[in-house]
Amino acid sequence: MQHLLSDMLQMLNDPSTRHAAFVHLPIALALLAPIPLIASMILGDKNRAPRYAAIGAYALLAILAYVTAVSGEAASDHMGPAPGVVGALVHDHEEMAEKVWMFALGACVLVAGGLLKKKGVAATSTWLGLATGLFLALWIAAAAHKGGMLVYEYGAGTPKPMTEKDISPDPSAVSIDPRLDFFLSDVRPVLVDRCMGCHRADKARGGLDLSSMATILDGGDDGPVLTPGNAMTSVIYTSVAGIDPELQMPKRGGPLTDAQIEAIRRWIDEGAVWGE
Ligand code: HEC
Repeated sequence: MQHLLSDMLQMLNDPSTRHAAFVHLPIALALLAPIPLIASMILGDKNRAPRYAAIGAYALLAILAYVTAVSGEAASDHMGPAPGVVGALVHDHEEMAEKVWMFALGACVLVAGGLLKKKGVAATSTWLGLATGLFLALWIAAAAHKGGMLVYEYGAGTPKPMTEKDISPDPSAVSIDPRLDFFLSDVRPVLVDRCMGCHRADKARGGLDLSSMATILDGGDDGPVLTPGNAMTSVIYTSVAGIDPELQMPKRGGPLTDAQIEAIRRWIDEGAVWGE
């Protein structure tokens, strides 16, 4: 028992774990707070308890959201700089999360405004409070979604550090391999636009289907077309680079640009990483 307790305290020493522990309460509060608020709008002055509950919830949320944003900053500092898509997600997530406490404070003040003597002002304030509260619930859900993606898809802040070696060879795995980014941005579009018109599952000219790594490795009627790591022995490259007098690809629409040919060379020489 003591062991368990000290283990748990130990875990809270880790900034990423601390952030994960803090983060769920504000989300729950943001989603639940509109309930007493709506109840108070229905009950009016007869029963003020729900309104006090809503005011309290938004005040607490403002404080918690502030603490959570600070703990998130510590977690991302702890994580160190992250490459590419993960870095961008961290940035978006932080930007969104930083604003939560302000919206919560705004909702708190507006809902409290519903207690004012002037009926018209009080009603307007309450409606604005409700709008802010609902907007806040959507906002926090979006920010949390980005945070969740960081943790569950990219493993950010989880005990296992993210390194190149961790990237599994499974070609469909989401990874932070820069070669995958390169494939997706510079190579895949060329294959799709210029090759797959004639080389796909339902229309495999020359017996070649270029729509997945598995079918590429199956090769065409004349055998293998790709040697990962060596463009010069890969027909996919030699046929587009004008090196192969027998076979010039693409068959239609003119040759690829120099940049496209170079992209295919680099992709193959760097190991022909494939992904969706
Ligand atoms: C307009 C249709 C068309 C397009 C577009 C096209 N090909 Fe082809 N491809 C063919 C045909 C037809 C063959 C069969 C050989 C021949 O007739 O020359 C072939 C054969 C091949 C082969 C040899 C397969 C084998 O083993 O015989 C490779 C490699 C190849 N194409 C790569 C590509 C690449 C890479 C692209 C895109 C840059 C591309 N092709 C675009 C029609 C096309």
